[in-house]
Amino acid sequence: MLEVDGIHTYYGLSHILFGVSLEVDAGQVACLLGRNGAGKTTTLKSILGIAPPRQGRVRFKGVDVTGEEPFVMVRRGIGYVPDDRRIFADLTVGENLEIAARREKGREYWDKKKVFELFPPLERLDHRRGGLLSGGEQKMLAIGRALMGNPEFLLLDEPTEGIAPVLVRAFGKTIVRLKEVGLTVLIAEQNVKFTLKLSDRGYIIDNGRICYQGTVKELVENEEVRRTCGI
Ligand SMILES: Nc1ncnc2c1ncn2[C@@H]1O[C@H](COP(=O)(O)OP(=O)(O)OP(=O)(O)O)[C@@H](O)[C@H]1O
Ligand SMILES: [Mg+2]
Repeated sequence: MLEVDGIHTYYGLSHILFGVSLEVDAGQVACLLGRNGAGKTTTLKSILGIAPPRQGRVRFKGVDVTGEEPFVMVRRGIGYVPDDRRIFADLTVGENLEIAARREKGREYWDKKKVFELFPPLERLDHRRGGLLSGGEQKMLAIGRALMGNPEFLLLDEPTEGIAPVLVRAFGKTIVRLKEVGLTVLIAEQNVKFTLKLSDRGYIIDNGRICYQGTVKELVENEEVRRTCGI
């Protein structure tokens, strides 16, 4: 469904990604693992067109979409949950969700009710302003908002960053549920154990280069990967 082929991405003169390639098949959960500054967020931004690659290609559902504007990518069916969440502080939870609603013919699974079923704690916060939510609640809202666009493919940037362990486990179940309803997901994470448990395929990025890749089984059985990632 998604093919990233040898992308090089820069911020100004800084060369950040060096020939990153990865593939995510329809219906799969893939993960991109790496430490701080490895290039995970930059890879997601390159896919979405926020930081368009200077070399290499991005293909989505067989179409070359390299460098397309983010709003075009969203229309094509890609949802994005940035690590800094960016919810509207002055809008209520319900308004944050409704404003992101997009019902495309044949892809209209998600509405506010479905999001509340997925994240029960959000339901009682329906009328609370976004800016007053806790970090974990904001993370749920950010994912819910991306789902309101009824994407086929979801890019998740560090869903577990800064949240309590009990919520991390809950998010694990959420992602499994998303896969069950047919979403394809790419998760960027530092939490290796959490992420490998729910992924089909993994990529490990270091210094802007993919250093290991494979099925989760292959990664877990690779001694070098185990040492590098501490699994
Ligand atoms: N807007 C920017 N301008 C210049 N350099 C940037 C910019 N954003 C990120 N970088 C640099 O690009 C490199 C990769 O950053 P990136 O955010 O992709 O890493 P990451 O793997 O997501 O890290 P983290 O786990 O901390 O989120 C880092 O060295 C970072 O300092
Ligand atoms: Mg990041």
